[in-house]
Amino acid sequence: MAKLTVVGLGYIGLPTALMMAASGVNVVGTDFNTTVVEKLKSGSIPFQEKGIEELYQKAVEHGITFTTEYQKADVYIVCVATPYDEMSKKIDPAYVIGAVKNVLEVCDKGSVIVVESTVSPGTMDKYVRPLFADYGFKLGEDIHLVHAPERIIPGNMIYELEYNARTIGADSKEIGEQIKSIYKNFCKGDIEVTDIRTAEMTKVVENTFRDINIAFANELLKICRSDGLDIYEIIRIANKHPRVNILSPGPGVGGHCISVDPWFLVGDYPELAKLIRTARLTNDGMPDYVLERTAEIAEKNNIPTERIGIYGLTYKEDVDDIRDSPTLQMLKKIHNHLGAAPKCYDPMVMGKITENQCMDFNEFIDSVDLIVVMVKHHHLQEHASEIKNKVIFDTRNCAESLKGDNVVELL
Ligand SMILES: NC(=O)c1ccc[n+]([C@@H]2O[C@H](COP(=O)([O-])OP(=O)(O)OC[C@H]3O[C@@H](n4cnc5c(N)ncnc54)[C@H](O)[C@@H]3O)[C@@H](O)[C@H]2O)c1
Repeated sequence: MAKLTVVGLGYIGLPTALMMAASGVNVVGTDFNTTVVEKLKSGSIPFQEKGIEELYQKAVEHGITFTTEYQKADVYIVCVATPYDEMSKKIDPAYVIGAVKNVLEVCDKGSVIVVESTVSPGTMDKYVRPLFADYGFKLGEDIHLVHAPERIIPGNMIYELEYNARTIGADSKEIGEQIKSIYKNFCKGDIEVTDIRTAEMTKVVENTFRDINIAFANELLKICRSDGLDIYEIIRIANKHPRVNILSPGPGVGGHCISVDPWFLVGDYPELAKLIRTARLTNDGMPDYVLERTAEIAEKNNIPTERIGIYGLTYKEDVDDIRDSPTLQMLKKIHNHLGAAPKCYDPMVMGKITENQCMDFNEFIDSVDLIVVMVKHHHLQEHASEIKNKVIFDTRNCAESLKGDNVVELL
């Protein structure tokens, strides 16, 4: 049986490695972060995700191992982070380059290196392909490169790994089909085999599509609010049109994908990606808009700054991933609007990540009069009966059940 190594055991690499192992593939999970590897060896999962404990057990029963050493394998799947450079907006490929080099140091002829990380179009040609010659390999002859970007969403990763359609970009149909057959061990969705540049662009285009559509909803929200119109009612009615599907407005876009990938296109095609740039700036401007509304609502209800609280630090509901979340974006700017850091609470975040963060829900509730709901965690609905006589600024249109006992203001 082919041996597979997954390099990078974060939000994407770990579920992928576990899924592969649980479906019978011989898997080694490698990460250079000793803490991550030690945790996994001792049976603890570094982040929360629905169904991951059960999957971990199954993978361990099937013999998955975790290590900080790069080992020989037939297929390597690289799942490392791909941030962008804040100034140039271009991809920072350093982690991908580092991980591919780590693999090239140990792999044998005949291996296939699959980059799952999201990369900007052209990254594989510009930064990854040239590495192979440095290690004495002839790409396409004695070693192969594949790009198989991932689409799963935190909070529903295990289900989506199994049922999402996937894309595999390869230089030859034969290698593309070989890698497809490995993913087919667990993936019930369609798997498209294409070339590498098409796979790179397709992935970035998907997230850019989402970003632009969210920006459209956010812009409509501002237009409607400026003219006293109810955006939620307008979207509800407009979406009855058979070819209209407007997304929900919200307090901004965070996470590791939608708020990052469109910048790759802006960075690489600055003269062409005009709509994409505007959409990115619109969504990046939402935390400021939330702060302006928060100040307005606080003033209207005579609530002092020290009695304002923020519910939700993560970038989406029911996950513990805080990367680039709208709340964190907002906290960076808070002094311009409110003057002082407000109290914060998030039921999914177990460690202290910001000043004035309450670790206890009741303590949070008791210490605030205005609650800005930034994330629609299920927890909020489950504890709705404990929230009384508060002003709720609901940026997610999710606090219907809090009406009656509280004053609810929408974005
Ligand atoms: N998180 C998501 O929701 C999501 C969804 C789809 C695609 N993606 C893409 O998947 C890729 C990975 O994202 P993530 O969220 O899993 O990142 P992550 O930061 O959670 O995990 C990356 C892991 O790689 C490890 N690593 C980095 N370089 C290494 C090396 N040379 N050797 C061994 N380990 C190394 C890090 O220690 C870390 O544990 C990114 O390109 C991202 O854009 C992410």
